[in-house]
Amino acid sequence: MRVLSGVQPTGELHIGNWIGAIRNWVELQNIHQTYVCVVDLHAITVPHDPKKLSENTLTTAALYIACGMNPEQCAIFIQSQISAHSELCWLLNCVTPLNWMERMIQFKEKSQKQGDNVSIGLLDYPVLMAADILLYDADLVPVGEDQKQHLELARDIAQQRINSRFGRDGKPILKVPKPLIIKEGAKIMSLTDGKKKMSKSDPNENSRITLLDTADLIKKKIKRAKTDSHIGLEFDNQERPEADNLLSIFSILSGLGREEALKECSTMGWGKFKPLLTDATVSAIEPIQSRYKELIKDRGELHRILDNGRSQAEEIAQVTLERLQAALGLLKKNKVNH
Ligand code: TYM
Repeated sequence: MRVLSGVQPTGELHIGNWIGAIRNWVELQNIHQTYVCVVDLHAITVPHDPKKLSENTLTTAALYIACGMNPEQCAIFIQSQISAHSELCWLLNCVTPLNWMERMIQFKEKSQKQGDNVSIGLLDYPVLMAADILLYDADLVPVGEDQKQHLELARDIAQQRINSRFGRDGKPILKVPKPLIIKEGAKIMSLTDGKKKMSKSDPNENSRITLLDTADLIKKKIKRAKTDSHIGLEFDNQERPEADNLLSIFSILSGLGREEALKECSTMGWGKFKPLLTDATVSAIEPIQSRYKELIKDRGELHRILDNGRSQAEEIAQVTLERLQAALGLLKKNKVNH
């Protein structure tokens, strides 16, 4: 089976990105052909700083490796370095109904924040994401809960708009992918509001713990994290979203699992729980940080890894692109010399 996923280089990766997505890729690379990209073309769908973008693109790739992605076992590459992503996106744009796009929850949320400055790219974001996935004939796409609707769109485009319209003799042109959303940790919430998703774009930095935060900063952020007036941590109480979120994070990062974590914390007050959560978080991300520090020293090696990932990915992407171009009736280049 083939696996594809990606993260936007829009800021420092946070523990939600790691727990909800990257952590699962690491397992998958051992059993499936795995392709992971840094989706820099998605990062420019909202206003951005060009200097920061190229730096963040490289640091995001380094973090993939620091989190355990092994360049010997998977292809790691930069989305914009393979032009087939943009080319397939155009072909898919021409068959995707506009009203499918206007329904996308993330578009509605993000466009509200942009006021009058909403780009066509922001509306088109999910089609580019569909192109990322469909180019590689991916079977599985490991993502967090918030990407479910985008995955459904990719499936609908492949099935309803391409295969059923342009496929011949019942043969599909594009593989219809499946989302892989691992329930545990699929939606890590903000530290400052248990009803809001932890997000790179939240203006309040205290709302998230990034993979590169120092131990001191993590301690401060957890100390300030929103709590309630109850004693004892618990899961699934809708009146206590912060307790559910922080206990979930603890159960995952401590490695205890839900049952054990609940046993340990069900009668504990916040004052005792928070230092425990801090220790579990610091120890879980410490190995990532030390590997990252080594990797980022050798930028030449990082570029070599990305070149190698690109050439593996490009080969597959080109074949799919040409298959769709042919199915849509675009005239093939004449390779015979005159
Ligand atoms: P991005 O960068 O917003 O998120 C990257 C991954 O992290 C997951 N995630 C979370 N998981 C749990 N809790 C959270 N609070 C949380 N926040 C983010 C996301 O679900 C995602 O898996 N549109 C994609 C990027 C993308 C992509 C693709 C993914 C572009 N092309 C092709 C897969 C396949 C996104 O959300 O990026």
